[in-house]
Amino acid sequence: MFLKQNTSNIVLLLCCCMLSLPLSLSAIPIPVHGHFTFDGNEFAARDFGNQLHSLPWAVLHPKKVSDVAATIKHVWQMGPAAAPTVAARGHGHSLLGQAQAPQGIVINMESLRGEMQVINGKSPYVDASAGELWINVLQHCLKHGLAPKSWTDYLHLTVGGTLSNAGISGQAFRHGPQISNVHQLEVITGKGEVVVCSQDKNADLFHSVLGGLGQFGIITRARISLEPAPKMVKWIRVLYSDFSTFARDQERLISAEKTFDYIEGLVIVNRTGLVNNWRSSFNPEDPDQANQFVSDGRTLFCLELTKNFNPGEEADIDKEIKSLLSELSYIPSTMFVTETSYVEFLDRVHTAELMLRSKGLWDLPHPWLNLLVPRSKIHTFADGVFGNILTDTNNGPVLIYPVNKSKWDNRTSFVTPDEDVFYLVAFLPHAAESDELQHLVNQNRRILNFCDSAQLGVKQYLPHYKTQEEWRAHFGPRWEIFAQRKSAYDPLAILAPGQRIFQKSISIL
Ligand SMILES: Cc1cc2nc3c(=O)[nH]c(=O)nc-3n(C[C@H](O)[C@H](O)[C@H](O)COP(=O)(O)OP(=O)(O)OC[C@H]3O[C@@H](n4cnc5c(N)ncnc54)[C@H](O)[C@@H]3O)c2cc1C
Ligand SMILES: *[C@@H]1O[C@H](CO)[C@@H](O)[C@H](O)[C@H]1NC(C)=O
Ligand SMILES: *[C@@H]1O[C@H](CO)[C@@H](O)[C@H](O)[C@H]1NC(C)=O
Ligand SMILES: *[C@@H]1O[C@H](CO)[C@@H](O)[C@H](O)[C@H]1NC(C)=O
Repeated sequence: MFLKQNTSNIVLLLCCCMLSLPLSLSAIPIPVHGHFTFDGNEFAARDFGNQLHSLPWAVLHPKKVSDVAATIKHVWQMGPAAAPTVAARGHGHSLLGQAQAPQGIVINMESLRGEMQVINGKSPYVDASAGELWINVLQHCLKHGLAPKSWTDYLHLTVGGTLSNAGISGQAFRHGPQISNVHQLEVITGKGEVVVCSQDKNADLFHSVLGGLGQFGIITRARISLEPAPKMVKWIRVLYSDFSTFARDQERLISAEKTFDYIEGLVIVNRTGLVNNWRSSFNPEDPDQANQFVSDGRTLFCLELTKNFNPGEEADIDKEIKSLLSELSYIPSTMFVTETSYVEFLDRVHTAELMLRSKGLWDLPHPWLNLLVPRSKIHTFADGVFGNILTDTNNGPVLIYPVNKSKWDNRTSFVTPDEDVFYLVAFLPHAAESDELQHLVNQNRRILNFCDSAQLGVKQYLPHYKTQEEWRAHFGPRWEIFAQRKSAYDPLAILAPGQRIFQKSISIL
């Protein structure tokens, strides 16, 4: 393939097919306002997982949505033999090459950031570019006193990247994941068509791309549901030594009418200094008291909660929190509280990131494992894994919290376990040395094998499978729909090759 830049912004994309050497060239002009790069594209071969690295052939830095549409349309018209693969790259925080396009074209979505528009009213929303980081969406909406409802724990991720997965955090029990909080999308399909879609308009495409792993189109804009933003949060952690008591309290809290605004949990196995968890900036008012709890050789469970408030409401909020906490059965004397601004709370992992970066502990391999475990099996899971397969949590946090499936829309591409309530269990380690990486990869394998042999009905979140057989098993009865949607919206299987779900029929140079 060759690409030439002529005098204007017209780029010639010339592609030859390896199978038909000597070169058979097709040349069609692609008018773009942005530009392509062919060198210095190493960034597009990297991701947060830092384990797989494939260089693309070219990177498109679009300036306008029409740049993306023109490029994909051109690729589509090249036909099955010659078309290169194309991957949207958000912030590249995938774990195993999902946003990479080996020898294909990566579209750097962040260069498409632009105007955000907030519309106030009965159901307020923001229209944002899919290449926008959630932290910027938040900052912009706060100027209008508003904020999105559902989050991820970390905000330096793009709108398009999380909507292609789900976007799950401690607000999902109430609002559902981020994919349940979108009114409308603008999508460019694998044929290069620009389509605006919603529940009412082109609904099948809308549901396809939500949780669609980038398989059906490139999201270029999203209309995200908003609510009035609180100014402050009370941030609370309490400890348990018994898993059943911990899980019972979590489940009670997510189903209660009056409850907290954010509910998560952490598993702490065999470690010291447990309140100083690397993944957040939680700083209790009394750190000395907190740090006298050690978990050497044992397992503790930490329930993490927040309650939003505004200045002037403090006395009422304290009373409400006291009453909510009085229903719980945590270890008395293990209640830690802090107070922070809403932004600081939401951006808590970034605070930890800066600290880790300063110690050289951020750009390391991240062999993460995210599981969705049905409620009826969570005790079997906990018995088998925490303190058994998992003997310490010194390399990074392990999160665990339940959500109610009624907040998830089963028409999207996302697959959940077959139960009303399921737990997100996230193992989020980093590996400083290569034997550590091998150990963690083996540990993940053992956890997955345990889930399989005990038939827990677990689904992976953000999975990486190597074969279509495994993807079929992942989707189960939803596979047929997923495959049908692929042939409708990306029939050449151009998009997001790094997910390794569909193979382009003919390999290209
Ligand atoms: C520190 C950290 C914390 C995290 N915390 C959470 C969490 O709390 N909850 C949670 O749910 N997830 C969490 N994640 C996972 C995160 O949501 C996903 O990794 C997400 O894909 C990252 O977004 P990104 O913009 O970096 O996407 P990328 O890695 O760039 O892309 C992800 C996939 O989506 C595709 N894609 C990207 N943009 C588009 C688009 N505009 N249109 C179509 N397809 C697109 C890519 O091709 C790729 O296949 C976390 C990740 C990290 C690194
Ligand atoms: C889940 O939500 C549904 C619908 O709101 C509700 O009927 C059910 O009781 C909830 N389940 C639990 C365990 O909270
Ligand atoms: C606790 O961790 C240490 C070192 O990390 C390990 O040697 C020990 O076996 C662990 N204890 C238990 C009970 O898992
Ligand atoms: C989705 O859920 C609805 C309501 O619970 C149910 O009637 C429908 O059959 C489900 N659809 C799919 C595709 O599972």
